[in-house]
Amino acid sequence: MHQDIEEILVSEDELKQKIKQLGEQLSKDYEGLNPLFIGILKGAVPFMSDLVRQIHIPIEIDFMSVSSYGKAASSSGVVRILKDLDTSITGRHVLIVEDIVDTGLTLSYLVKLLEGRSPASVKTIVLLDKKSCRTVDFEPDYQGFVVPNKFAVGYGMDYAERYRNLPYVGVLKKEVYHVS
Ligand code: PRP
Repeated sequence: MHQDIEEILVSEDELKQKIKQLGEQLSKDYEGLNPLFIGILKGAVPFMSDLVRQIHIPIEIDFMSVSSYGKAASSSGVVRILKDLDTSITGRHVLIVEDIVDTGLTLSYLVKLLEGRSPASVKTIVLLDKKSCRTVDFEPDYQGFVVPNKFAVGYGMDYAERYRNLPYVGVLKKEVYHVS
């Protein structure tokens, strides 16, 4: 285990097993629909990458990069689009792929935004759900694990851009982010 991690929340094996199950479910649910999987940069990259390799039907992928105006000022729920989709989603079945849902602001904003572009459907999948942190009414359509309100890093999630490459989800030691 990395020296800055105090506890493993979701192990490599648990991730692998759950993502296989999610891939099987999505392969059934989207059969014949040629869905577009939209990964939200940067946190969703490892999850997206492992998930799409567990899908056994034709799919397409795209990415968006968004930025909230800082967590403190995020109560408005307004999200700034830094990189938009490359393609039109009119008439398409789209699935937004996220590493984590916390307050729910990012995903509820993105769902509304994409619904405004006349897709056939918009659904969401999150690997981790910090359910106790919701400030808006939002439920993902597919989810991997419900996690407690702890400082989770790894498998895409960062602290100051670090730890995204850990192969598991862990809790960051307090002394790492508490500067005295
Ligand atoms: C994380 C995560 C979601 C958002 C969830 O991204 O990937 O986009 O926060 O939080 P919310 O439910 O409170 O809106 P982050 O802003 O950390 O960017 P990153 O993916 O580039 O690390």
